[in-house]
Amino acid sequence: MTATPAISGTIPGSTAITPQSRIASPRTPEPALTPAEQAQHEQAQPAQSASAPESNAIGTHIGAVVYFSSASENTARFIAHCRLPEVGINVYRIPLRPKDAPLVVNEPFVIVVPTYGGGDISKALPPQVRRFLNDRGNRSQLRGVIASGNTNFGDAFCAAGDVIAAKCHVPFLYSFELTGTPEDMRKVREGLHGFFSQLASSKPAGAD
Ligand SMILES: Cc1cc2nc3c(=O)[nH]c(=O)nc-3n(C[C@H](O)[C@H](O)[C@H](O)COP(=O)(O)O)c2cc1C
Repeated sequence: MTATPAISGTIPGSTAITPQSRIASPRTPEPALTPAEQAQHEQAQPAQSASAPESNAIGTHIGAVVYFSSASENTARFIAHCRLPEVGINVYRIPLRPKDAPLVVNEPFVIVVPTYGGGDISKALPPQVRRFLNDRGNRSQLRGVIASGNTNFGDAFCAAGDVIAAKCHVPFLYSFELTGTPEDMRKVREGLHGFFSQLASSKPAGAD
């Protein structure tokens, strides 16, 4: 990660997760949140209770990852191989089917999302991810984004990360292709551990 302003300030010394160089050339993404979806989800709604993680942190809990993966499960395999619970990270999965109960996350998280849209950046976000981030409560806990994709899509490679970073004002922490390499998994596991540790140490005393 670079010195990109994260959350309400720079997280000092967060270097373990490095962005890909292509991230330095900004695109102008389409709105991630459509006005209709925004209005629908930002109406006064009763407080929702938090969803249970798919996998709970083992030992000291330091943060959370929320991920989406389609039926091809590439991202699910990547997440499983990262062994995030072993470094104290809760793992939540955004449901695939519309009839599933919506995911509600009440703790700071980094989102891991595959890119869709077939090269059309305006469609880069899977609709399930849009729906999740259109919930104001969920969005308020978002601290960073990791995106995946396929280099066959050229300039749209991992565009979902650019869209979320631009619309939600969070750092684009890392990108990887398909199911990732062992090196990607190591960098993400160690990088997220460092990221959440620094987040905790930069939090004002007494803040939640
Ligand atoms: C219909 C379709 C469209 C895609 N569009 C893009 C794209 O625009 N950019 C990109 O980088 N990858 C794109 N991909 C590649 C996916 O991001 C990649 O296969 C990812 O690993 C899928 O993750 P999942 O199996 O967890 O859903 C696309 C894949 C499919 C099937």
